[in-house]
Amino acid sequence: MDVMTDELGIRRGHALRAAVEQGLVSEAEPVVGLLDVTGVERSATALHAAFATPGVAITHTFAVKAASLVPVLALLGECGLGAEVASPGELALARAAGIPADRTVLDSPAKTVAELREALALGIAVNADNPQELARIDALRLAGTESAAPVGLRVNPQVGGGTIGAMSTATATSKFGVALRDPGAEEWVLRAYAERPWLNRLHTHTGSQGVPLELMAAGVRAAYELAERINAAAGRQQVSVLDIGGGLPVNFRSDDVTPSFADYARVLRAEVPGLFDGRYGIVTEFGRSLLAKNGTVLARVEYAKSAGGRPIAVTHAGAQVATRTVFVPEAWPIRVLALDGKGREKDGEPVVQDVAGPCCFAGDLVAQGRALPLLDAGDFVALLDTGAYYFSNHFAYNSLPRPAVHGYTADSTGSVTFAQVRTAQTLDDLVAESGGALPPLRRG
Ligand SMILES: Cc1ncc(COP(=O)(O)O)c(C=O)c1O
Repeated sequence: MDVMTDELGIRRGHALRAAVEQGLVSEAEPVVGLLDVTGVERSATALHAAFATPGVAITHTFAVKAASLVPVLALLGECGLGAEVASPGELALARAAGIPADRTVLDSPAKTVAELREALALGIAVNADNPQELARIDALRLAGTESAAPVGLRVNPQVGGGTIGAMSTATATSKFGVALRDPGAEEWVLRAYAERPWLNRLHTHTGSQGVPLELMAAGVRAAYELAERINAAAGRQQVSVLDIGGGLPVNFRSDDVTPSFADYARVLRAEVPGLFDGRYGIVTEFGRSLLAKNGTVLARVEYAKSAGGRPIAVTHAGAQVATRTVFVPEAWPIRVLALDGKGREKDGEPVVQDVAGPCCFAGDLVAQGRALPLLDAGDFVALLDTGAYYFSNHFAYNSLPRPAVHGYTADSTGSVTFAQVRTAQTLDDLVAESGGALPPLRRG
């Protein structure tokens, strides 16, 4: 464990105790998300340092889907990052956070004409997913939508999948991008660029969690080699920017940051050296690897019971905050800390138990058969490495409210300051978003 890793765990420990002490988790708000501001800044610094190359313009964007919270996007913006957005909502969040257009990239497989028009008008980079979308962009340009927006095409290098099928975007039949190895596809891409001198980027994203670095690099290499062929055919540097996506996997087993951004950049420099020789600008779109280890869900244990000899802690953190972990536990196991009523790590003999959530279905378990110090009513649990795709990706089952999220900083004495990132959804909010202001349906 290195010093940085150690510090992350120490800051988290201080924050968990302080969150309990300061009443951030309560009867009214029995589950909260906590985000380590120092950790986020350090992740951003590590990313910049890993890719920095003299003479190469690099834009690191943050995949908004991983933490769709305006103050977090603003913090990342201050750290020099932009935003990768994949819906009108994500674009609105990035704009609300003050992310400039020239650091914003619009991906997504189902952009409407209105979305494309808006992006082009704002000067936001657009990565077209498929030939039909490119034709829509042609039509918008012909209709006079003035735009200096960079435009790219997403390609699927079809290099294969990782360990989690749902996260693997470069399989033979993936829904994303132009499937490069399909018959005639590469010829079509070369023609598409030849006919459109303004098409100046190329985009690929090989997948997310579960994809090994070598496979990610193979996807990037395929895109790079294609860009080289496009540019050779054009007789100029038509593709001037390669957008290499995100996808760096996260270690959910310990506090160690492995693989690191530096590890990935090293593999890329070895496998695709031409990417860094100054002819191309680079865009990245990391999400999980920037935020996951900097976030923790803290929840109260409401009851401790037993069934069939199995102790069960019934907590307030379940499928509504840990959706993937609950529904696909083998792909998304997370560490759970057992905390006492003061938010301190419990010691005591590990006992095999289930850690359940509040949702009304039997599978609502964030840990099953896990050996932990025995949890009791009034204790707390901490779900670790949940800064990305957890508390910001709420699942509205049982109308459970979206929990509050607090950023924290801790000084060397362990004193913790919290700043709210999102308030908890109120019952009035819930009723309103569930059609509360609309008239009752009438019988026909
Ligand atoms: C196009 C694109 N870019 C970036 C990302 C972010 O991936 P990760 O959070 O694994 O870095 C995703 C994730 O789905 C994506 O689809």
